[in-house]
Amino acid sequence: MAKRNKITVVGAGNVGATAAHWIAAKELADVVLVDIVEGTPQGKSLDLAQAAPIDGFDVNLKGANSYEDTKDSDVVIITAGLPRKPGMSRDDLLKTNADIVGKVTDEVAKHSPNAFLIIVSNPLDAMAQVAFQRSGFPKNRVMGMAGVLDSARMRCFLAEALNVSVENVTAFVLGGHGDTMVPLPRYSTCAGIPVTELLPKEQLDAIITRTANGGAEIVGLLKTGSAYYAPSLGAVEMAEAIIKDKKKILPCAVYLEGEYGINNLFVGVPCKLGKNGVEQIIEISLTNEERAALQKSAGAVQELIDVLGI
Ligand code: NAI
Ligand code: 2OP
Repeated sequence: MAKRNKITVVGAGNVGATAAHWIAAKELADVVLVDIVEGTPQGKSLDLAQAAPIDGFDVNLKGANSYEDTKDSDVVIITAGLPRKPGMSRDDLLKTNADIVGKVTDEVAKHSPNAFLIIVSNPLDAMAQVAFQRSGFPKNRVMGMAGVLDSARMRCFLAEALNVSVENVTAFVLGGHGDTMVPLPRYSTCAGIPVTELLPKEQLDAIITRTANGGAEIVGLLKTGSAYYAPSLGAVEMAEAIIKDKKKILPCAVYLEGEYGINNLFVGVPCKLGKNGVEQIIEISLTNEERAALQKSAGAVQELIDVLGI
């Protein structure tokens, strides 16, 4: 029998545990869930394993406080860190999470030197850059999840406004995962028709604003913690594209070296994900206004990198 794939999820909080749930339910891979809190990853893995007979998924689930069991993972999803609290920006998390993600990456790279890394911890683009530098992995094996979430939010709002299935709607979001993200209605469609032909500008502008504030809207409602169902599934969609060599085009935070005029920085752009990780960065033509918005967003990421001095 072919060996099952193995995914390690670091951080057994809301995003990490829910990612483990999606991976198991899809029978995508065996899962090792790691956290610093003793008992939490073990308890959540055991609970999930006890759901397996009900739903009928056959994967091994293991919780751990160290990295021995993560050895030779195919994909590692890093969600360790602190989530935003109400009134707190993603950037407030910068230094604390950089320290956490740096240490986690050291362990992950030591135990799974050939893994693909999918970073979720915030501030996302900067944390992907931390993981890239600390791991020393090639750029096709380190990526950040945000665009899948941001475009899913936009798709959700567009489908609601158009009163159509979410399956009919595609949406395009570029840039860093923050208030400066760049949703592109021109490249967003309903059954192939650009949404700019289907909705009035004011309604599209409102959807764009709601998408850019999508994380804060949920933080405001939950009051303790931030979104996790859609974020965790976004990371799992990326892992699945790699494990199944789907050659899927997804918006991911990747290391740019001149693409879109951006250099040596992780920023969200459309990529092809397959068995070699980030197999292609897709450059689309932008209007001057869109290009300026993307540059502004990249500038906001660069500011964080400068603060970190990496
Ligand atoms: P959470 O607080 O529920 O879980 C975080 C977990 O990380 C906790 O269980 C904590 O014990 C663990 N942790 C902390 N330091 C660790 C270490 N050194 N090693 C292993 N585990 C460690 O938070 P949640 O909601 O799961 O969010 C996790 C991260 O993901 C946050 O930074 C959040 O802002 C970010 N996020 C990013 C999104 C994106 O689109 N990129 C979307 C949603 C969340
Ligand atoms: C979100 O967008 C908190 O970044 C997280 O929901």
